[in-house]
Amino acid sequence: MNIKKIFSNNQDWIAEKLKTDKDYFKNLSKGQNPEYLYIGCSDSRVTAEELMGVQPGDVFVFRNIANMVPNTDLSAMSIINYAVSHLKVNHIVVCGHYYCTGVKAAMQPADLGILNPWLRNIRDVYRLHKHELDSIADTEEKYKRLIELNVQEQCVNVIKTSDVQKAYKERQIAVHGWVFDVHSGKLIDLKIDFDKILKDIMEIYRII
Ligand code: CO
Repeated sequence: MNIKKIFSNNQDWIAEKLKTDKDYFKNLSKGQNPEYLYIGCSDSRVTAEELMGVQPGDVFVFRNIANMVPNTDLSAMSIINYAVSHLKVNHIVVCGHYYCTGVKAAMQPADLGILNPWLRNIRDVYRLHKHELDSIADTEEKYKRLIELNVQEQCVNVIKTSDVQKAYKERQIAVHGWVFDVHSGKLIDLKIDFDKILKDIMEIYRII
């Protein structure tokens, strides 16, 4: 797409918003009070706001390659801290997607330079669930399952943070694992049993 087109699109968007509410941007500039923190993949096909049908101000968004939450990643940890302890979101979503090239790349025997340590986190997910994944003969199905298990493990990483543990005690914050199916456009709730995972991992990871 031509860059000029992007700026003319922006003008159209402003006009569209003002048509229904002349104070739209005036109100938007007052501040944000999102209910959700969304952690998803940077993949250009997985547009967080559009696929959820939400408006500016509704969702605090964090996207990186393969929707990861590594505990040494300053960006991920800062975003969780800010969203949970300052913006006081009540829901955290980790949203993966089928056909994730990040997950696929992680499983190839290739030296990808700076991407190696990032993608190694996905190999760790595979190792944790090797038994189940090795039992799936179909390669496509195996990738799909790895994508789901990666979402689950990143939810666990979210729960390991002190901010989330504190918020759970204070206001029952919820963590959700979702997958977006690029092939059908469907958003799927993996129905991760948050209370059970929390109970299990807290035996080891309790901070507060
Ligand atoms: Co992806």
